[in-house]
Amino acid sequence: MRSVRVYHSTMSSSKPAYADYFGRIGEIPLYKKFIQNWREVEKFEARPDDLVIVTYPKSGTTWISEIVCMLYADGDVEKCKKDVIFNRVPYLECRNDQMMNVVQLFFFNLGVKQLKGMASPRIVKSHLPPELLPLSFWEKNCKIIYLARNAKDVAVSYYFFFLMVTANPDPGSFQDFVEKFMDGDVPYGSWYKHTKSWWEKRENPQVLFLFYEDMKEDIRKEVMKLIKFLGKETSDEIVDKIIKHTSFQEMKNNPSTNYETLPDEIMNHKVSPFMRKGIVGDWKNHFTVALNEKFDMHYEQQMKGSTLKFRTEA
Ligand code: A3P
Repeated sequence: MRSVRVYHSTMSSSKPAYADYFGRIGEIPLYKKFIQNWREVEKFEARPDDLVIVTYPKSGTTWISEIVCMLYADGDVEKCKKDVIFNRVPYLECRNDQMMNVVQLFFFNLGVKQLKGMASPRIVKSHLPPELLPLSFWEKNCKIIYLARNAKDVAVSYYFFFLMVTANPDPGSFQDFVEKFMDGDVPYGSWYKHTKSWWEKRENPQVLFLFYEDMKEDIRKEVMKLIKFLGKETSDEIVDKIIKHTSFQEMKNNPSTNYETLPDEIMNHKVSPFMRKGIVGDWKNHFTVALNEKFDMHYEQQMKGSTLKFRTEA
């Protein structure tokens, strides 16, 4: 682990102030622009064959989404490449009114609107905790996949993502951001509460709980779990294709999954690519010894009594 590595963002002073940029839904901080007309999210009408992919941000949402799309497409790569991932798997609570002119071009504006116009079976992306996920998904017995990733790698990935999303406020140094992360003062709030509350749902037959680290270790095993959960019959040949097409390198080079089709006004890949490293344990390159000790102590308090355990090394 390196002893000192502090990042400073290069953001200009025209950035919005951090505190002004977020409101709250229940107790979780969320982008104010998402909170406008929250009723639309709350009263979202699920369909019984909807599949919901839920994660805390930066836990491998895009990876699992592409795997599911490939399964739905019976391994047809060209079919998946026909449209970008954020159209194939709309982001339920996303709302981007301020950027309407730019985003309309890219259909990256209103998750609810996108979903309403979509044919079944829909794949839905969300970062919401279980209590905020629209009730209709629970009532209609929709299948839900929750993908979790260890907190340290999430914090690193979130920091670089936070910097590359152009409209975001300045998150300060990496150390500043990690402090906010520990306090739950980041969009979607406390990672600790989010992962624990979804972990409590793992016995619910509607829910499949997966780990990013397991996917990195043995992707075939995790894809097979997914296939069983979805009740699909998939040949070995298709599984091979899915694994090949959804490797980090393939997805990084694929414009339909790497988010590089979005203009710099939305995501600036020169600041940090969306498909950044895709590894377990990158936190070791960014946490100082002191920050790591502080984080570990806080982590132990937050996760005390929980059976939820993560691996932080490959
Ligand atoms: P890093 O920033 O650590 O590289 P999300 O899709 O939830 O926003 O998560 C993004 C994270 O998942 C990024 O992590 C990204 O590189 C990683 N990721 C995306 N596709 C991946 C893949 N096929 N294999 C491994 N990691 C992947």
